[in-house]
Amino acid sequence: MRLQKKSHKVAILTVFGLLLVIIATVACWWFLAPKASTPQVKAHANARSKEQTPKKPAVPSFNKSLYSTTDPASLWIVVNKAHRLNPVDYSPTDLSYAPNGVLVSGRILPDLNALISAGAAQGVTLPIVSGFRSYGNQVTLYNKYVAQYSQATTDTISARPGHSEHQTGLAVDLGTVTNPGCSLNPCFTDAAEGQWITAHAHEYGFIVRYTKENSAVTGYDPEGWHIRYIGHELADELTKENITTLETFFKITGGTTYID
Ligand code: DAL
Ligand code: ZN
Repeated sequence: MRLQKKSHKVAILTVFGLLLVIIATVACWWFLAPKASTPQVKAHANARSKEQTPKKPAVPSFNKSLYSTTDPASLWIVVNKAHRLNPVDYSPTDLSYAPNGVLVSGRILPDLNALISAGAAQGVTLPIVSGFRSYGNQVTLYNKYVAQYSQATTDTISARPGHSEHQTGLAVDLGTVTNPGCSLNPCFTDAAEGQWITAHAHEYGFIVRYTKENSAVTGYDPEGWHIRYIGHELADELTKENITTLETFFKITGGTTYID
């Protein structure tokens, strides 16, 4: 009986002891665990939310190798006095008639028509004076200028056969109705049509290829009427970077001297 009473007492003490340990553990956890309102917890929570905020995707840099600069069928072909078309008598396979009957590469037609329509909507008439010229046409034109002027003078205003952007079907010469005397003339740049083209050609994927500022690089006197199609991506990029020549952008030789 006495033994039974003693073991009962031990059991009660054991349970009581266990209860004390549990209470002490809970109390310790309560006091030591970080509270949601403490600065450490807030900082931790902020850091975690920053970690989880998706980063803005990096703006992809312009891919200068997207199209060839040497393939005559490429929108980014660079042809100048240092770089002749290969083959020299290249002719585009996608020639189409512009509304006035001038042949151009079919790839430039939608944007060329859009440019002409936009000009018309703003009161600027932009007649197409010249588009695609075959190798043979360029021979005739170049020789005509040589007979009329000297070869040195001709080389400042006309490309030798195999060196003209017109042979790619991607170049167009536009005229002026407000000042016909300035058609294919340096004063074209100051005519209303020249000014409109300078301001807007890039919006339609074209550049004014030969300007006063870049003639040492392009190798020709300014031609405010000669627009060259390069597509919207490249036209936008050149505008963004404030670069006016394909040679500078692609780091390709240009200049006033014929290499071949
Ligand atoms: N007038 C330009 C340079 C050409 O002949 O292509
Ligand atoms: Zn031209």
